[in-house]
Parts: sequence; C-alpha cells; structure tokens
Amino acid sequence: MQVLVTGGAGYIGSAVAEELIAQGHAVVVLDNLSKGHRDAVPAGALFLHADLSDAPSLRNALERHRIEAVVHMAADSLVGESVADPAKYYANNVGNGLALLDAMRAVGVAKLVFSSTVAVHGEPQKLPIEEGDPTDPINPYGETKLAFERALRWYDRAYGLRSIALRYFNAAGATETSGERHDPETHLVPIVLQAAAGERPEVQVFGNDYPTRDGTCIRDYIHVRDLARAHVLAIAACERGTDVYNLGCGGDGSTVLEVIEAARAVTKREIPVRIGPRRPGDPARLVASSERAARELGWQPLENDIRTIVESAWRFYERRR
Ligand SMILES: NC(=O)c1ccc[n+]([C@@H]2O[C@H](COP(=O)([O-])OP(=O)(O)OC[C@H]3O[C@@H](n4cnc5c(N)ncnc54)[C@H](O)[C@@H]3O)[C@@H](O)[C@H]2O)c1
Repeated sequence: MQVLVTGGAGYIGSAVAEELIAQGHAVVVLDNLSKGHRDAVPAGALFLHADLSDAPSLRNALERHRIEAVVHMAADSLVGESVADPAKYYANNVGNGLALLDAMRAVGVAKLVFSSTVAVHGEPQKLPIEEGDPTDPINPYGETKLAFERALRWYDRAYGLRSIALRYFNAAGATETSGERHDPETHLVPIVLQAAAGERPEVQVFGNDYPTRDGTCIRDYIHVRDLARAHVLAIAACERGTDVYNLGCGGDGSTVLEVIEAARAVTKREIPVRIGPRRPGDPARLVASSERAARELGWQPLENDIRTIVESAWRFYERRR
C-alpha cells in the first residue's frame, strides 16, 4: 500500500514509517518539523516538509502519491502546554485534523489510523482502562483527541471514511534508528537516561506515598516498536469499520522507581533521585487493557519488559552522543 504518515518525523511516527517500510509498504511522511527531526525519517520514505493546514500541499500529497491509507500522528501533545494554551491544541489537534479529513474526502482516501491517547478517559474509575469506560478528559490535550475521535465516527457515518483510533499511555524505547528526542522532554525514560548520562543533575520523583508496591506511581509503558506494529495492523482493520482500541503493556505497569532501577542496571551509572511532593491530579496507577486489541487486531506487546525498553532507549541515546 501507499501510506501517508503525518508527523512521521516525530518519535512514534518515524517508528511507524520504519515498520511500514519493513513490511513492504511505500511511505510518504508529511511533517512541519515543529517537533520532529528530518533525520528521524527513514531513508526509504519520501519526505514532504509541510503543515497540515496547507490544504494544497496535503491534497497534492494524497493525489500525486496515490495514497491508500493515512496514519495520523501529527499533533501537539504536552499536557501542561495544552492547559496554558488550549487554542493551540484545538487549532492543531482538531482544526488541522479536520483539514486532513477534508483533503482525504476530496481525493477519495477512505482509511485512517489515528494516534489517540488514554488521556481521553480522564481519571479512571476502574483499572485496567477499557474502550467502553467513560471518557471525561481533564485537560485540553485529552479533550482535543476525544473531539477528533468523535468527528471520526460522524465522518464514517456520513462519508464512509473508515478509521481506527488507538489509545495508549506512554510510548517508550527506541528502534535501531529512531528514538525519543522531545524538547522539552517530559517523559520518564529519557529523563532518567539524561540523569544517568550526567546531563541533568537528578530525577525528581513526585511522591512516594501512593498505595502502590513501592509508593511511587505506576504507569503503562509500551515499546515504540510494539506501537508501530499496532498502527500497521490497524490499517487492515479499517476495512471492518470505524473503531477504537486501547493498547496497554499487558501487565501491571512499572513504578517510577522500577524504571529508575532498570536504568541503573542497564547503564551501570549512578542516577541521583530526589523525592518531592505529589503532583496534583496524578493518579496512583494508570494502566490500559489491550484485551480487545489482542482479540480483534491480533496485537500484543512483544517487548513489554521495562528493562528491554530501557535498554533499547539507552542504545539510541548512546549512539546519538
Ligand atoms: N509519546 C507518547 O507517549 C504518546 C502517547 C499517546 C499518544 N501519543 C500520540 O502519538 C502521536 C505522536 O507522538 P510523539 O510522542 O511521537 O510526538 P512528536 O512530537 O515526536 O511527533 C509529532 C510530530 O508531528 C509533527 N507535527 C505536529 N503538528 C504538525 C502539523 N500541523 N503539520 C505537520 N506536522 C506536524 C511534529 O513536527 C512531530 O514530528 C501524537 O499524536 C501524540 O498525541 C503519544
């Protein structure tokens, strides 16, 4: 297939592009490089430096390259920034997303895989979080992802645009060529590795008095390669109609201290830790269920051991220094 990956110069998008190419598909990456890196785009993909709001470029990309399916990863995704500047998030995550759907409609591309987030559920009422659980986002980031998911349902009903939204928490780890390089970095694994490398003085842990096995928060980490496989499987699943799948690590998640311990073991370096107070709005435990994804997409995480994830991230980190 000919597949367009929006945001394919970003962390997860570049891994998706790599997986698509490995499976024999032709890939066009469209990215404005606001957050992504040109050198993250796999060599086998065609790169278009454009913004989603640039309707002529978008339409031209879909038409000229005879795109059959789109994997939509381009978005702004910083929770704190979304609270401070919701307009930016509505414009990019909803407005530009709808521009993409309109271009697809105009050209007759009818399959889309959307990278959503489990943040659409807000504070979970039970764990692990399943697709049918209530959606009540607590920040504009989650809200804008949910708004786009909802638009997708109506676009299917009215225009026959088939889509699969994938909701997950924390992508982590690296492929052989592509890894996490966010700026600012807000994700735990790269932050811990920066501390191991001496690039930051310490890792701040927000609370160690939660009702968890070591008192620190439990989160669901999925290897970026497993996520890439899920996105590729979801393209085929579009045929069956519009749907939503939650993706989880399949186990009980990892505590903050377990991630730090894994990084100490992998890097064999000191990682200074400072325990601070809890952050408001941080639930003790967040894990998603991937039971439906396993049953219906045939997906399960293959590299969900936190040490394997950290090892791959460290290999990427060392290669880039
Ligand atoms: N990283 C995670 O843990 C995580 C978890 C759940 C969902 N997601 C979702 O997965 C997707 C990718 O996340 P990521 O961590 O790889 O982020 P990222 O910032 O590395 O990648 C996003 C890419 O989109 C590009 N982009 C943004 N707006 C654009 C626009 N208007 N036009 C063209 N390109 C644009 C950026 O330049 C960047 O390369 C996002 O939609 C995010 O919400 C990420």
